[in-house]
Amino acid sequence: MQATLSIIGIGPGDPDLLTIKALKILRHCPVIATPKASQHGHSTALSIVRQALPAGDIDGKEIVELHFPMKKIHLGQEPDPEVLQAWQEAADKIFTVLSQGRDVAFPTLGDPAIYSTGYYLYATILERHPEVRVQFVPGISAMSSCSATTQTPICLGDDMLAVIPATFSDSRLRQILETFDTIVLMKVHRVIDNLIALLSELNLLDRATLVERVGMADERVLADLSALDGQVHYFSTIIVRKK
Ligand SMILES: C[S@@+](CC[C@H](N)C(=O)[O-])C[C@H]1O[C@@H](n2cnc3c(N)ncnc32)[C@H](O)[C@@H]1O
Repeated sequence: MQATLSIIGIGPGDPDLLTIKALKILRHCPVIATPKASQHGHSTALSIVRQALPAGDIDGKEIVELHFPMKKIHLGQEPDPEVLQAWQEAADKIFTVLSQGRDVAFPTLGDPAIYSTGYYLYATILERHPEVRVQFVPGISAMSSCSATTQTPICLGDDMLAVIPATFSDSRLRQILETFDTIVLMKVHRVIDNLIALLSELNLLDRATLVERVGMADERVLADLSALDGQVHYFSTIIVRKK
């Protein structure tokens, strides 16, 4: 039978937030391909999977490590050659396993539909091997989990919602902050100082809440961003809710 690649959303950190479907597939897949941001670092996705699976379940599995450098991607523009090469190497490694008839699970943080490497991997594999069978399993997004932790809705009634990577700090960011009712800012860590200045200028500081490492052991919620001292972790999301 043809092997399947499962691209699985595993939630943002709390292992109890994996869906039953995600767990079932991860338990039965002989190979787990794990994304890592740095060549010698560890995979957060794998550590969440390890906590979620019953003890010993992961021992007999093959772990294939995939390195994805953290670089900006502008849709419609050719990605950085290092990024392109990483996607191609990852696709090749996964295809090698699939062509041996073994299923592969690719766990990705949050939901694969939201700023996830999962879809780049999917496109790269299918471009070279259109016959490959792929399934997506949705997961709980970081913003959903941040909303639950802070007991704040993301949108209600006729609210308009924008979800954006804050790294694109061009004029669109200001315009979006002025236009929408709720704005979810992701990837805020490298631009946090500029972001706080902009939120302050727009009188939105007291409407913004930052959640760092939601669902993880060192989770932090900051309702008053003017009190922020120092930098924030990559796993940080800001929800600006104007109403
Ligand atoms: C590459 S995107 C992945 C988003 C993910 N696919 C989702 O559905 O939430 C990474 C960004 O997601 C957010 N994020 C991921 N995990 C998080 C966590 N545990 N706590 C807060 N934000 C998180 C941060 O904004 C981070 O910069």
